[in-house]
Amino acid sequence: MFACTNCGYKTLKWLGKCPQCGFWESFIEEDAKPRKAAKTKDVTLVNIKELAQTTEKRLPTGINEFDRVLGGGLVKGEVVLIGGEPGVGKSTLLLETAAKLAQENKVLYVSAEESINQINLRAKRLGICPDNLFIVTEDNIEDILPLFDKDFSVVIIDSIQVVRLNYLSGSAGSLVQVRETTGVLTEKAKKTGVCLIIVGHVTKEGVISGPKVMEHIVDCVVYFEGEKNSNFRILRAMKNRFGSVGEIGVFEMTQKGLEQVENPSSIFISQDNQIMPGRSTACILEGMRPMLVEIQALVTKGNFGMIRRKTSGFDFNRFSLLVAMLEKRLGLHLATQDVFVNITGGIRIDDPTADLALVAAVASSAQDFVVPADSIFIGEVGLSGELRIAYNITQRLMEAKRLGFKQAFIPEINHKKLNPKDFFGLNILGFNNAKEVIEKIKMKT
Ligand SMILES: Nc1ncnc2c1ncn2[C@@H]1O[C@H](COP(=O)(O)OP(=O)(O)OP(=O)(O)O)[C@@H](O)[C@H]1O
Ligand SMILES: [Mg+2]
Repeated sequence: MFACTNCGYKTLKWLGKCPQCGFWESFIEEDAKPRKAAKTKDVTLVNIKELAQTTEKRLPTGINEFDRVLGGGLVKGEVVLIGGEPGVGKSTLLLETAAKLAQENKVLYVSAEESINQINLRAKRLGICPDNLFIVTEDNIEDILPLFDKDFSVVIIDSIQVVRLNYLSGSAGSLVQVRETTGVLTEKAKKTGVCLIIVGHVTKEGVISGPKVMEHIVDCVVYFEGEKNSNFRILRAMKNRFGSVGEIGVFEMTQKGLEQVENPSSIFISQDNQIMPGRSTACILEGMRPMLVEIQALVTKGNFGMIRRKTSGFDFNRFSLLVAMLEKRLGLHLATQDVFVNITGGIRIDDPTADLALVAAVASSAQDFVVPADSIFIGEVGLSGELRIAYNITQRLMEAKRLGFKQAFIPEINHKKLNPKDFFGLNILGFNNAKEVIEKIKMKT
């Protein structure tokens, strides 16, 4: 049996290209030996009512931003998968986490990728020296499993692509190895109640390499991401059986390791106070956390037939729709113009309520007027320019007020439900469509 390492598609013959996902050379041979049937035994029934008395105990990692993403800390027997591109800082984050946890718990760090010396150098750089942190550089899982019974509260595996089960065919990192090692480790963690954190590498397509099945086995999948030219790193939960997804943790990579950024709004808006066209501020919500981000746009004359459109940190398709809307509904002449959009701080925006700020920034650069720096823009923009309702508006406005913004441009549908007294000091204006917003800004400047 052969299986695709990308999507898990199975076939009897080896194929060069996967008919399901279109990947090339992704097929590897799978061991199709059926497992031995076990003897039957009585199964235990548990009444959920009896369980209701027991309270869930969390083990905080000691790193607040990580705990926020996990939903308040690790749960006994939980398996967390951390994915991230090479060099993003996974090992750094985990060594720091291990050190914090080791202040009160016994922690095992299995580093199959790096030598003791390398880890020691990193630990020295980060200033880490806890009593209860133990390190092994072993890649055979069968040798690691017995260690779970030695009073460890947390075991970290760095990374799943280099550990292996010797009795299986295939090299470390192959479909069978990754799936089986994850399965065996998870089973052991559940049995012993040890919290398990597994590092998984991400392919250039952005998925955790190896089969997707790995994500089904574990309890929580978090991605550690960062833009190439930025020191900021974001930890994002994609799946969480014990907490909400969509929560993010923000870190800054420094010489001394990862530092937590408790107030992310302050880093995503420029501090230079320069007033110029093409800048506006949005308030996005990441999980339950409101964050202000600055959007910058540059509209310049393009070469005939060669106009360029580029975005960094903003969905390109969404941006194209908004540019088309600006042309059609606001009468902007962008067909011969290059349009570039950048989100400062290296963050990626998924929240559609940032549309209005993007529209304001592009219009401002195209028509050379200034968007007041003390204003914030919240609202999803439809194809006819209409503003749609924004959820959790109160939280967003409170964040804007806290950071000293004086004006908020929001959808009328939200505006009419608000009590202005709650936001004293912040002038809130409601609009039905993007055109009215742009006209209002122009009137003021
Ligand atoms: N002396 C240093 N000063 C500042 N930053 C450093 C220093 N040394 C390493 N770094 C940062 O740490 C990153 C590497 O961190 P780390 O090894 O934890 O990443 P990783 O995700 O585990 O990588 P890999 O995929 O190779 O395992 C580098 O990309 C760099 O940004
Ligand atoms: Mg590493």
